Amino acid sequence: MDLVIPNATDEIGVGIIGTGMMGKCHSLAFNAVKATFGNVPRPRLELLCDVEEQHVKEKASELGFARHTTDWRSLVTDPDIQIVSITTPNSCHPEMAIAALEAGKHVYCEKPMALTLEDAEAMTAAAREASGLTLLGYGFTKNPALLHAKRLIEAGTIGRVFDFRGAIDEDYVADSQLPWTWRLNEGSAGLGSLGDLMCHLVSLAHMLLGPILEVSGLMETVHKTRPILGEPQRQQAVENDDIAHAIVRFETGVAGVISSSRIAHGRKNGIRIEIHGSQGMITFDQERMNELQLYTADGSTEISGFRTILTGPQHWPYGLFCPMPGHSLGYNELKVIEVAHFLQAVRGLEKPFPNFEDGLRIERVIHSFPRTAQKRSWVTV
Ligand SMILES: NC(=O)c1ccc[n+]([C@@H]2O[C@H](COP(=O)([O-])OP(=O)(O)OC[C@H]3O[C@@H](n4cnc5c(N)ncnc54)[C@H](O)[C@@H]3O)[C@@H](O)[C@H]2O)c1
Repeated sequence: MDLVIPNATDEIGVGIIGTGMMGKCHSLAFNAVKATFGNVPRPRLELLCDVEEQHVKEKASELGFARHTTDWRSLVTDPDIQIVSITTPNSCHPEMAIAALEAGKHVYCEKPMALTLEDAEAMTAAAREASGLTLLGYGFTKNPALLHAKRLIEAGTIGRVFDFRGAIDEDYVADSQLPWTWRLNEGSAGLGSLGDLMCHLVSLAHMLLGPILEVSGLMETVHKTRPILGEPQRQQAVENDDIAHAIVRFETGVAGVISSSRIAHGRKNGIRIEIHGSQGMITFDQERMNELQLYTADGSTEISGFRTILTGPQHWPYGLFCPMPGHSLGYNELKVIEVAHFLQAVRGLEKPFPNFEDGLRIERVIHSFPRTAQKRSWVTV
């Protein structure tokens, strides 16, 4: 099917599959994007899908959708829809994305791509054959603070970059007595902290410094069993990783260290990054997402130190949300930026990043961990 390239004055039909945390987040972003960015097609919230009729009917009304369905297959072939958002659990992504691409739709899919590398490869192969574009929901790559960090790196502000340090940590299963869930099972969830968290960190590393080429790492399940919900005296095995660490080498030769944990007490959305250069350093923490720390090795040593750059209108596209610096953007606003980026890509004005091709590079890094951990040596991703 030939997709029509819309103008900024056109409407574009949107269907969203899933009404959980990310279904709502995507809906909020599609609702806000025209008012925020102006020069983008206006999304028309056409059809919302989830598994239970009454629930999806209520959500469609709350989120502003014209229609609702419990049949995702009818959504991906609906003639009034050009963009399909997939916000269902990871195991659903491949079948839904491939069907939507085959139906000629643009596909906006949450991360990670799939449970297995083979499924991510199949999704990428379908994208190569399709007329529609693809985008993955790595929203942290759209933070104006980090877009500014990328510009600073490219402008040579910290000199020649030679080292990347990154850690992504949360504590959603830090309590070892929390009951077993499907997220801890390889068959239903795939990788653990690697699939949930590390893929975000790798998306940022790739955005800032290009692809990672080699990995030498380990992965560990720290809490090996968990109580079964409702039967606390019985335990069930945890199959995927709680923590993962690696030293890495980027294609450019830059060295790095990356780690992830889902059992890091106190960390809620910790994504801490350091980029070391010959003339200075940039550091960032997602829990303080409106700040960048910059150190430049120039001037008098008596007054040297890190300076805090608070984001403001000078850091595009912050100013489209708020004309006043330091007033802060939030997590949901990164999704508005992501949606604007995809709409401009659909108009042919931007190249979507990370699309499925870029996403497959991220998947290759996280899926290299079982290999490197088993071999106890370096692997090429
Ligand atoms: N980018 C991010 O920062 C971020 C954050 C959280 C989650 N995610 C990703 O978003 C995806 C969804 O996560 P979530 O937290 O919103 O999950 P969730 O469990 O809150 O929501 C998933 C929804 O999908 C629905 N669903 C399941 N199977 C379906 C089917 N066959 N047809 C229609 N609907 C179906 C469920 O009923 C549920 O409403 C996952 O891939 C996850 O990794 C991304």
